[in-house]
Amino acid sequence: MSIHDLLRRDIAALEPYPPPPTLELLQQRLGRTFVKLDANENPYGPSPRVAEALRHCNAWRYPDAACTELRERLGEYLGTEPERIVCTVGGDEMIDLLIRLFLDPGDEMIDCTPAFLMYAISGAVNRGKVVVVPRDDHFAVDLEAVERALSDRTKIIFLCSPNNPTGNMTPDADIIRLLDTGRILVLDEAYAEFSGHSLVHLAHRYPNLVILRTMSKWAALAGMRLGYAVVDPSLVAEFTKIKSPYNVSIAAQVAGVASLEDQDYLMANVRCLIAERDRLSERLCALDYGRVYPSVTNFLYWQIPCDRAVTWRQGLADRGVLIRALSGPREALRFSVGRPEESDLLLAALEDVHAQLAG
Ligand SMILES: Cc1ncc(COP(=O)(O)O)c(C=O)c1O
Repeated sequence: MSIHDLLRRDIAALEPYPPPPTLELLQQRLGRTFVKLDANENPYGPSPRVAEALRHCNAWRYPDAACTELRERLGEYLGTEPERIVCTVGGDEMIDLLIRLFLDPGDEMIDCTPAFLMYAISGAVNRGKVVVVPRDDHFAVDLEAVERALSDRTKIIFLCSPNNPTGNMTPDADIIRLLDTGRILVLDEAYAEFSGHSLVHLAHRYPNLVILRTMSKWAALAGMRLGYAVVDPSLVAEFTKIKSPYNVSIAAQVAGVASLEDQDYLMANVRCLIAERDRLSERLCALDYGRVYPSVTNFLYWQIPCDRAVTWRQGLADRGVLIRALSGPREALRFSVGRPEESDLLLAALEDVHAQLAG
């Protein structure tokens, strides 16, 4: 018997989703530099207080399993009670825990696509049935279609707002209508600091609302892996049953607290990225090919000419610019907003690829 015969059949059948190599590895392998605009990272890096705090952290001790200080600081930051907050290894782990907490095998979750890919991946890995409800032509959530898709087995609706990869927000009234279905509504606010809008204050009114947040984007802590959710206080103990006890490392906890103590610094960088997003967006609008969509995030969705996302991605990579190619019924590219000089390299590379493909 091969070890592969012992694998779960559904896992063996899944397409692997290999994370891209790090920038350093790629540059080493290919012997050239790249501009990395493919993961919505924050190019300005963490608060300087993070490095200072890490120098003093007790790495030989297990971390506080309850993330007590971090949750207190997050509570102050969000204007909510720490008793509502659960911290995880990035928002990714929270998505997995939520599905594990609510879905029995065969139970359904709704995914309003295009959306963040981890919802569907975690759903499949956890033997949930992922019910796809496509967004409309302007990437608004199709509320009637969601309501039609509900069944007795629907437990969770995932809603990313602002949405990755399209950059737009769902109106509050639509979100409330989805909350009124009584299903768990996971409102993914990974980019809330860029949009300046959050529905955390609704958590008191709707026990079925779960707000998912991350420190990866606004606080530039992607490498630390620190996410969290605001949930009904009665659920916190349930998460404790299924999460590994020391999931959030001491380094991530310390980095999170130091970041929350330096919000002015971090929000100044967020404002820089917003200004740069608007400049890049204007420059993309001026091109007579492709179409840029309005965004309230730190990335832009660009509908490419002729649906050749992979060709464009490769063309840009050949010119030293890494971006995200999006497949599906409508092929597109997603550009993270970087420093101004990185946008300029992207724009020059786009012109070059366009000339090559047109010629
Ligand atoms: C919409 C959305 N949600 C959640 C995440 C997960 O973030 P992390 O696991 O880095 O906290 C991301 C990361 O790109 C995202 O775009």
